[in-house]
Amino acid sequence: MSTPKPTTGTFLAGLATDQMSEHDLLEVVEIEERSGLSRWGWAAYYAELQGVNRSLMLVARLANSETPGVAGYIVARETAGELHINNVAVREEYRRQGIGCSLLNRILEEGRRLRATTAFLEVRAGNLAARALYERCGFRAVARRASYYSEPSEDAVVMSFVL
Ligand SMILES: CC(C)(COP(=O)(O)OP(=O)(O)OC[C@H]1O[C@@H](n2cnc3c(N)ncnc32)[C@H](O)[C@@H]1OP(=O)(O)O)[C@@H](O)C(=O)NCCC(=O)NCCS
Repeated sequence: MSTPKPTTGTFLAGLATDQMSEHDLLEVVEIEERSGLSRWGWAAYYAELQGVNRSLMLVARLANSETPGVAGYIVARETAGELHINNVAVREEYRRQGIGCSLLNRILEEGRRLRATTAFLEVRAGNLAARALYERCGFRAVARRASYYSEPSEDAVVMSFVL
């Protein structure tokens, strides 16, 4: 009998979501580089950790894994009641197991705790995996920004979620 797939948004066995710390940054930057995201790099994450939005920097760890460490991360900022999700990525070998959705749900909870009323993000129009994740978690497309991204040039889809 095959093992049932975990329900999206629930915690996988051994999955813990913690606030990011300085000790996580080498792994976070490695995941960022391997995921092809716009580059922040170590210094930008470190600076963000010193600021007011540090509670909006989370990592997912799989305690039961043979290689414990950071499986994924999410970074957001809260300004004037708006939660802006900047980066989310999961190590390739751990994708499609609900980690992205767990991170997203945790950051939305934290946004509510900070009294944000709406969450926003931009995503490359062609990033179908990320768009599917956001839609699955309740985000809806509200606008499109032409040629918002460079290298390669691509439109951004703006998505929002009412908290
Ligand atoms: C986008 C990303 C974070 C998703 O992480 P993940 O842990 O695999 O996502 P989840 O397992 O929580 O997926 C939740 C749901 O999102 C959708 N989804 C996720 N990846 C998908 C894919 N490749 N194709 C289609 N749907 C997908 C599915 O509905 C999925 O539920 P299901 O597995 O029950 O069908 C991951 O693919 C990633 O790190 N990509 C590279 C970085 C990136 O593009 N980040 C977004 C920048 S805006």
